[in-house]
Amino acid sequence: MKKILSQRAGQLKPSATLAIAAKERELKSQGVDVIGFGAGEPDFPTPERIREAAKRSLDRGETFYTPVGGTVELKKAVAHRFLEDYGLEYKPENIVVSCGAKHSLYNIFQAIIDPGDEIICLAPYWVSYPEMVALAGGKPVIVETSEKKLFEPEIEAVAKRVSAETKAIVLNYPSNPTGVMYSTEFLEQLARLVEANDLMVISDEIYDKLLFDGRKYTPFATVPGMKSRTVTVNGVSKTYAMTGLRIGYLATDNVEIVKATTNIQSQSTSNPCNTAQAAAVEALSGPQSEVVEMRGVFERRRDMMTELVNQVPGLSMIKPHGAFYAFVNISEFIGKKGVSGSSDLAGYLLEKHHVACVPGGPFGSDDHIRLSFATKKDIIAEGMKRIRSACAELSNG
Ligand SMILES: Cc1ncc(COP(=O)(O)O)c(C=O)c1O
Repeated sequence: MKKILSQRAGQLKPSATLAIAAKERELKSQGVDVIGFGAGEPDFPTPERIREAAKRSLDRGETFYTPVGGTVELKKAVAHRFLEDYGLEYKPENIVVSCGAKHSLYNIFQAIIDPGDEIICLAPYWVSYPEMVALAGGKPVIVETSEKKLFEPEIEAVAKRVSAETKAIVLNYPSNPTGVMYSTEFLEQLARLVEANDLMVISDEIYDKLLFDGRKYTPFATVPGMKSRTVTVNGVSKTYAMTGLRIGYLATDNVEIVKATTNIQSQSTSNPCNTAQAAAVEALSGPQSEVVEMRGVFERRRDMMTELVNQVPGLSMIKPHGAFYAFVNISEFIGKKGVSGSSDLAGYLLEKHHVACVPGGPFGSDDHIRLSFATKKDIIAEGMKRIRSACAELSNG
């Protein structure tokens, strides 16, 4: 029989985070008491006002196709948030709504990449960027960073990787997996580099509302000179605890990108779910008080997780500025009891100690594992107790 799979599909790796979630579900279905630090989603119920809006939309009979790039109502709600939160002006025609921020990113890479085009990703990066770039025929170019400098890239290191083939730089702050924000100084230096080399920036700002210690968010489009060069990606999954409803969006002044991503969507998925769009209108336009409450809870869990991790001999982590991930340095344990990297350690924790976490390798750092603290405090306490004894076992082995 002829080789059926394309080279593209053959080279694609499955999402590490979703793979761990699947393994965790499998163990749980066998009755194993697994502590889940793998999930990249809030553990709160979707706020009632949002669920009610979805029900009302169904009852109004809104169960048909909508415009491909989202309803005008939702685009207006997105524009309203950009204006109210950051003073950024976008019109509905600058916005494309998709089935999650992941889908928006996928569409953007499909729209801008020709074979051989390079896209700069700053390590540690969200697992899907390099894979999506490669799937579109592009070359992900990775810029390494140092944990000692809070994973903030040196501007010279970024500049060195810019070539004639570079089309865009992908940003994500606060970051999944590190939780760090970039400094204003770095964002401004990057803006000058982007201008000098005629680049675009794809700024994945999905965790902008989950920023701790009273920090203020700086969207990349607000950095002087950057609005016309930025495609901002965001969504309602994390901010409003509605990951399964699958609504994300992009906003950009570049109407060519709006048109191309809408065309790609029109020939692939068509519009995002009509009911979910109605829910997202309510999420973005209604009172924003739950966001503040959820952020407060995440912040307290972040404090607890950081303290417990840093108490375990051999483990260390930077206190995250935002998002809900602890990026834990495990380098002390590499080489012990056959643990050759982050996947081995994650496998050992899951199989022997029943704690699910995500290996750092697919995020660009094999010296780390990622623990999500989007889970209750008693679960954090129990999971960290298990990790502590797993580490002691490895050290004594
Ligand atoms: C950095 C980052 N970007 C994008 C997404 C995708 O979010 P969604 O597709 O649910 O909107 C995620 C989800 O884990 C993420 O962590």
